[in-house]
Amino acid sequence: MKKLSLAIALLLTPALAQAWPWSQDMANQISIKPQEPVGKTGAMSKFPARSVPTPGTTVSVRDLDAAKKMANPVPANERSVAQGKHLFEIYCASCHGKSGTGDGYVGEKLTLKPWNLTSSNDSHPWNTADYPDGYIWGYMTMGGAVMPAYANDLTATERWHVVNYIRKVLQKAPAAAAAGAQK
Ligand code: HEC
Repeated sequence: MKKLSLAIALLLTPALAQAWPWSQDMANQISIKPQEPVGKTGAMSKFPARSVPTPGTTVSVRDLDAAKKMANPVPANERSVAQGKHLFEIYCASCHGKSGTGDGYVGEKLTLKPWNLTSSNDSHPWNTADYPDGYIWGYMTMGGAVMPAYANDLTATERWHVVNYIRKVLQKAPAAAAAGAQK
């Protein structure tokens, strides 16, 4: 009796329901599946131009050292800097503050305070402004000990826009003005 109730319990376990042969019936149809080879040659026909979204292309980079060596492919023009500001205020300001000095509201609650990204180097013995663009880009890509990684939330290009904003605006701001800037 014990065995039978165990068997019934197993049958009713939702996780196991995937394993039954009929659970695939709806998927196993004669319809053509995404990227399935079709036609006489069996080769996948070429996608019509512009039918596949390209901004999602992954830029893979091994680690922060490799990222550091990357050249910034996005010119720091007005458009890029404006886009970077917009993204920085959504994704970074909560911790690093709108000024980039590390005085964001969420950052205040962290044990390891968000580092100052501007040219005033009061949070660590180095100056972020002395690092190459690829370092800032790489930090966003990999994240840090506390800082989350942004490789999924921001595309590679969007991360370069943020770099351009940090470089052109936050690191150019006079230290006093930056420190007094609104959060
Ligand atoms: C949850 C809070 C948080 C958010 C959000 C955040 N950071 Fe950070 N960031 C940190 C902390 C804390 C550090 C210190 C290092 C660590 O965590 O390893 C840091 C360090 C950095 C550094 C290294 C600075 C240096 O001088 O070495 C860079 C660059 C950086 N952050 C950029 C960004 C950018 C750009 C964004 C937005 C895309 C962002 N951070 C979002 C918390 C955050």
